[in-house]
Amino acid sequence: MQIFSGLPQVPKELRPQVGQRANQVKQALEAALVERGGAIRQSSLEHVLNSERLDVTLPGRKPIQGGIHPATQTLRDLYAIFAEMGFQVYRTRDVETDEYNFELLNIPAYHPARDMWDTFYTTTPGVILRTHTSPGQIRVMREYCPDPIRVVLPGMCYRYEQVSARSEIQFNQLELMVVGRNITLGDMKGTLNDFARRMFGENARTRLRPSYFPFTEPSAEMDVECFICGGKGCAICKGSGWLEIMGCGMVHPTVLQNGGYDPREFSGFAAGLGPERIALLRHRIEDIRYFWANDVRFLEQF
Ligand code: PHE
Repeated sequence: MQIFSGLPQVPKELRPQVGQRANQVKQALEAALVERGGAIRQSSLEHVLNSERLDVTLPGRKPIQGGIHPATQTLRDLYAIFAEMGFQVYRTRDVETDEYNFELLNIPAYHPARDMWDTFYTTTPGVILRTHTSPGQIRVMREYCPDPIRVVLPGMCYRYEQVSARSEIQFNQLELMVVGRNITLGDMKGTLNDFARRMFGENARTRLRPSYFPFTEPSAEMDVECFICGGKGCAICKGSGWLEIMGCGMVHPTVLQNGGYDPREFSGFAAGLGPERIALLRHRIEDIRYFWANDVRFLEQF
């Protein structure tokens, strides 16, 4: 560039020669620069390719994946069993009214049975968290009346409880409801026995023990022979040889009526079981609090 700017001082007759030569030098330098630059870039690329070898055929790193919660797994097993028996899943609300959770199920405000189902109250009078899935019975009847019904009603229930290894303030239930003409206690027993065999194995033995629920008459608890000790008596069944797995009974005429069905024409049965209790027994989990403690060390075992 100095030569170019000094050209005016060069004698006139030499100027074309000097200028031409300066141009040749400039072009040669520029060409050399481009060439060298390219070579440097090429060799640094080669260096990177050699030192940071990437094998695209290697398997990818496995992302950490969540799993299905043991309570949900059990619920899904239950749906599958009941689906085979023609039951549909019918979902109803967690937030209920006193009317549906109690009154329409034949549990008036003064009834001592309410003690069994003490719950959480919202600041809106009469609006509560459901203590069982049974209020769904009224909802499903009111939706389908006068058609026959065969449904399971799953979901979270809430109770005012002292939390312990055996009781939680929240837990799932699966309610069963069948309504139709000529539904008998025999149908209930047959259905529940069939369920127990599908759930606990072909040889599962069951028994019905008389019980009391205001919304069923007669009422019973169903026990299944302890599948841990085979009925001999162990720590899990507390020496009795039997495990209580659900409450059940024939739908009370008043409840049928509250659902819109004429009890002189229709009958039905209902049952309620606790998926966590079943998971507890199946996996021999000794503390129900693990279910909602959200500890991965527990959850990743399923
Ligand atoms: N709702 C009852 C409970 O929570 C269980 C049940 C359901 C009993 C249906 C009979 C019929 O204890």
